[in-house]
Amino acid sequence: MTDKNDYRFEVSAAGRVNLIGEHVDYCGGKVLPCALSLKCTVYARPNGTDFINLAWTDLPDRIALDIRDLIKYGNLQHARYQAGCAYFWHKAGHELKGCDLLIDCKVPFGSGLSSSAAIEVATIGALALSAGETPDPVEVALLAQKAEHEFAGVNCGIMDQYASACGKKNHAMLLDCKTLECRQIPIDTGEYSLVIINTNKPHNLVESKYNERRAETETALSILKRSLEIDCLADVDPSVLEEHKASLPPTVFRRAKHVVDECERVRLAAEAMQRGDMECFGKLLTRSHVSLAELYEVTGKELDSLAHAAWEHPACTGARMTGGGFGGCTVNLVRTNAVEDFKEKVCLRYKRETGYTAVCYNAQISNGLVYNEI
Ligand code: GLA
Repeated sequence: MTDKNDYRFEVSAAGRVNLIGEHVDYCGGKVLPCALSLKCTVYARPNGTDFINLAWTDLPDRIALDIRDLIKYGNLQHARYQAGCAYFWHKAGHELKGCDLLIDCKVPFGSGLSSSAAIEVATIGALALSAGETPDPVEVALLAQKAEHEFAGVNCGIMDQYASACGKKNHAMLLDCKTLECRQIPIDTGEYSLVIINTNKPHNLVESKYNERRAETETALSILKRSLEIDCLADVDPSVLEEHKASLPPTVFRRAKHVVDECERVRLAAEAMQRGDMECFGKLLTRSHVSLAELYEVTGKELDSLAHAAWEHPACTGARMTGGGFGGCTVNLVRTNAVEDFKEKVCLRYKRETGYTAVCYNAQISNGLVYNEI
């Protein structure tokens, strides 16, 4: 089952890096992610049965999912992602046909680069093609998000699945998470390069902390709604939030302040990107990290150590954590002619401070969901 040439379709979906707009997607804010050339590829072939047979290139597990009873697989460690995708794809009215899927995920797990979104999006794409249907990337993203909520237990926003499905080569997506309106902005970093560095810190309790943050923003919204005409936190102006400070518990205020300030930073960053002002873009990255550390409290020792080391390097114009936080990666804007020196110095200092060995990725900005017949 592991020979890729025996399959009929090759379907891949991208990991993503979010340039800025962190922890605002579930508050109706705008985000600025890019799809990466780090991908999950699913090889698929119809098998004429009522089962979806799963195999992995890097795991010994072999699992058969009965398509008549998918709900029962919610507790499986790996296969719950595929089960959730199949369940919601079918529930949305699409035909589900038995097939063999071989999953080859090259997005590093726990890296904050959205390996789970890439797995979900590629899986739904593979299920669609196996049943003779052409997948619509936006619908795939929305159903993948449902699978993440219900089968993986993470109450995530839409950013990761959307970026994984709809990314465009050499573009960043300015995605309005309230309306799903998306503007593809060409990435032109001039004499700077984007460097992604993985803390390599094992994640734990990430899901519960993530869901806790989301709940805190919902508390903020429901309190503010008593006196403001708003649909989501992203609708609140930073100065209006200040005026309502006294009505919010202190922690809830700090979470909300991060969200409204971050929304403002995304607006400024998109403008800076469009006029090619990388100095300004970099400063906004750094301010975003500070806010995620001090107000949102989702960074931790390792991400802070990597970010601080980056800020001190003369060739770095800005750096921040990317993704949900509590480990995972930083994204750094670094003068291209000094990238090697930057990587060496930052990783060395990080190792000295934390004991972990960081890993750098030379990832390219790539397309999202891509498929072809083999
Ligand atoms: C995770 C979630 C996203 C988003 C980010 C934080 O990656 O899946 O929806 O909330 O965290 O910006």
